[in-house]
Amino acid sequence: MSDPPYADRFPVHRALPERGVPRDEILAELRSMAEDEDALWESGKCSGTMYCGDHDHYRFMNEAFGLFAHANALQRDMCPSATKFEGEIVSMALDLFHAGDDAVGLVTTGGTGSILHAVLSYREHATVAGRPNIVKPETAHPAFDKACHLLGVEVRRAPVDPLTTQVDLDWVAGHIDGDTVAIVGSACNYGYGTIDPIAELGTVALERGVGLHVDACLGGWILPFGEQLGYPVPAFDFRVPGVTTVSADTHKYGYAFKGTSTLLFRDAAQRRAQYFMLTDWSGGKYASPGIEGSRSGGLLAATWAAMVSLGRDGYSRYARAIFETAERMKNAVSSHPRLRLVGQPTFLFSFTSDDIDVYHVNDFLRTRGWRLNGQQYPDALHMCVTRPQTHPGVAEAWEADLADAVAYAEQHAGEAPASGAVYGGVPGGLTAEVDAVIRAFMVDYLDGQSARPPAG
Ligand SMILES: Cc1ncc(COP(=O)(O)O)c(C=O)c1O
Repeated sequence: MSDPPYADRFPVHRALPERGVPRDEILAELRSMAEDEDALWESGKCSGTMYCGDHDHYRFMNEAFGLFAHANALQRDMCPSATKFEGEIVSMALDLFHAGDDAVGLVTTGGTGSILHAVLSYREHATVAGRPNIVKPETAHPAFDKACHLLGVEVRRAPVDPLTTQVDLDWVAGHIDGDTVAIVGSACNYGYGTIDPIAELGTVALERGVGLHVDACLGGWILPFGEQLGYPVPAFDFRVPGVTTVSADTHKYGYAFKGTSTLLFRDAAQRRAQYFMLTDWSGGKYASPGIEGSRSGGLLAATWAAMVSLGRDGYSRYARAIFETAERMKNAVSSHPRLRLVGQPTFLFSFTSDDIDVYHVNDFLRTRGWRLNGQQYPDALHMCVTRPQTHPGVAEAWEADLADAVAYAEQHAGEAPASGAVYGGVPGGLTAEVDAVIRAFMVDYLDGQSARPPAG
C-alpha cells in the first residue's frame, strides 16, 4: 500500500489528537497543500476542473461564503437570506434560459444532484403503469444512469453516430413506450462538447407526450453568451417547445464554488412532485424541497455573490475569451492531418486519429505538463477549455506541444502507450472478464479515497 498523501510532510491523524493543534500550524499545513495543488492548474495546462481560476474571485466568494457558512439553509426562519439567495439564483437562471413566468427551480449540490432531482421529479410526476424509464443518448452523462440506478428507473441508451456524435432520433422515438417518463438531450455533452438536436427531441417529446430534460450542466452558463457573441449555438432552453426541465451548474461556468447547480422546471407541479413531507413524525412536522436535509447557507451566498458580481457583461467577457481560445486550440488540432475533431464541438472538444495512437499524443503532452482526459469508442482525448487556458502563452504552448506530440506518436507507432482509456474493450461493450478487472480496479481506487492511514 502506498503512503497516504503528504505523510512525508505532515502528521498523519489516525485518531483525534490528544490536544488540539494550534490554528496557525493547521493553517500553515493547509496553505502548503493548497499552494502545491493550485500549481497543477495555474499553468493552464489542464482540461476543465478549474472554471474560473481567479484567486481574487475566490477570495471574494470566500468572504461571502464565510458570512453564512455556519447558517443552515433548511431553517429559513433563522436565515431568510437563504430564501433571497436561492430565489434570486433560480430567477437569474430562469431569465437566462428564457423561461416563462410560471417556471420554477431548485438549487442543488451539483450536476449529479440536479440530474438526480430531475429524474426523481419525472418519476413522481408521471403516471405510468409499469417501471418508469428514460431514454438518453449514449453520450449523456453517467449521472443519468446513476440517478436511474438509485431511483429504480430503467435507462435506455440511444446510440450516436461516432463521427458526428448525433443521437439516432429514430431509435429514441422507437424506444419510447407507455412507461417512458422523459427523454434527454445535452447542451453540451461532456465527452465531445457537441449539442444534441434539442429542437428535434422537443418535437419527439411533444408528439409522444413525455418530458424532455436538457442537461446544460456543463454548457448552461457559457453557451447563452456564446450564442450572443455569434457562435453557432442552437436554442436549447425553454424557447424550444417540449423542453420541460433544464439543469445548469453554477459550479462550472457559473464560476461559483463547487457544490451548487440549478435545476429549472417549466411547470411548478413537477417541482412539487419531488418535495418530501412527513407530517406525523414525533420530532415534528418535516418538509424538505429535495433530497438534502441541512445545507450550508454559505454556498448559496457565495453562488449568489458570484453571479451578481459578474453580471451579464462579466459572463460575456469570460465566454468571449474562452470561445476564442477554444477556436484557436481546435484549429491547432485541425492543422494536423493525422488528427480529427469529433463532431462539431463548442468550447470543449475531443479529437481522435485514424492512423496514429492518440494515447501516444497524450503520453507526450503529459511530459509537457498537460492533463487531458482519455476517452474510448473511439480512443480520443478531451479538452474542456476554461479561463486558465485563456491566459497569455497557453494557446501558443498548446500549438507547439501538440505538434511535438504528433511527431512523437508517429515515431512510436506500434509501441504500447503508457496512458489509455480502457484496454480490451470492443466498440459498444466490454467482455465480462475485462469488465470485472476494470470494476475491481475502480473499487480499489474508490476504497483508497477514504482509506484509513496505516498504523505506525
Ligand atoms: C454534461 C454534464 N452533465 C452532468 C455532469 C455532472 O456534474 P457533477 O460532476 O457536478 O455532478 C457533468 C460533469 O462534468 C457534465 O459535464
